[in-house]
Amino acid sequence: MVPRPARAVRSFRWLLAAFSLLILGACKSPLGADSPLTTLVPVSTQGRAIYHQFVVVCIISTLVLALVLCLVAWVLLHYRGQPGDPEPEQVSNNRKLEILWTSIPILILLGLFVYMFHTMRTVDANQANPIVITVIGHQWWWEYRYSGQGFDTASEVHIPVNTPVTLKITSDDVIHSFWVPQLGWKQDAIPGRTNTMNLTVTRAGTFDGTCAEFCGTEHAWMRIRVIAQPLDQFNAWVAQQKQPAVQPATALERQGQQIFQSNPCASCHVGSNTAPNLTHFGSREWIGSGVLDNTPQNLARWINHVKQVKPGALMPSFNFTQSELNALVAYLEGQK
Ligand code: CUA
Repeated sequence: MVPRPARAVRSFRWLLAAFSLLILGACKSPLGADSPLTTLVPVSTQGRAIYHQFVVVCIISTLVLALVLCLVAWVLLHYRGQPGDPEPEQVSNNRKLEILWTSIPILILLGLFVYMFHTMRTVDANQANPIVITVIGHQWWWEYRYSGQGFDTASEVHIPVNTPVTLKITSDDVIHSFWVPQLGWKQDAIPGRTNTMNLTVTRAGTFDGTCAEFCGTEHAWMRIRVIAQPLDQFNAWVAQQKQPAVQPATALERQGQQIFQSNPCASCHVGSNTAPNLTHFGSREWIGSGVLDNTPQNLARWINHVKQVKPGALMPSFNFTQSELNALVAYLEGQK
């Protein structure tokens, strides 16, 4: 019979397993270079205010924990009983001590409460002349409407850097939650209600996020990509998005357009909000809210095998021939 390892060894193994899990949990997100899914590297004014509060709370909590542990250790060592000691004196009611250990926590919490109000005022503060973007959660993708600009897009949301942006967040079906950790805070997307998220992003880059409220089968594939750009690049992007759809340039693309329009594709993807607007699909990085990168091969796979790639997606799998698929892919990828 194999002897059971000593208790200390078993405890050590458990500790090692727990520690490994912690280390694994800190691994970098596989999504993108700029995109650690962490709130600890905030890139917005609002996110930084929340992060600073978090740090202050952590420091105070650690100091309190250290103080309590030291006191416990000191009492354990200093008042350790010896064999033969008499029963210790029983103490009850020490008014001074009770007042002290009630008032100190009250003061600490009051301080944090006031600080929290300060943080909330920073985060909720209305910003002058923001760029307003309506964010609509759908099962299972995000729609972005640029107010007053007359266009909408999906999956990726472009915003300018060092410019106030207001996201008006709502939902078309069930409750979702818009969460891009580096922006600093999350906001629920609730049908029939509009929640506001004020943002001033101070660093250009690509910041990924995800739906943070379980919303059905494909909840995990409801990714968000925020592309924060300098104002001139953002304006150039807006100008491009406002252009009407590109007319197909080659015979193959024209054939693809014809297939797109004569099949059910157009009924959901054009002039309806049941599916993402594909007017400038070719300029996007993702297919299916992040489930695939936008490449011709992936697009072909998506169209004919969507039920394998994203089983819950509402789009049906099609059965196009290879030549039809080539034409359709050429047309859609040409929609820059
Ligand atoms: Cu949408 Cu989870």
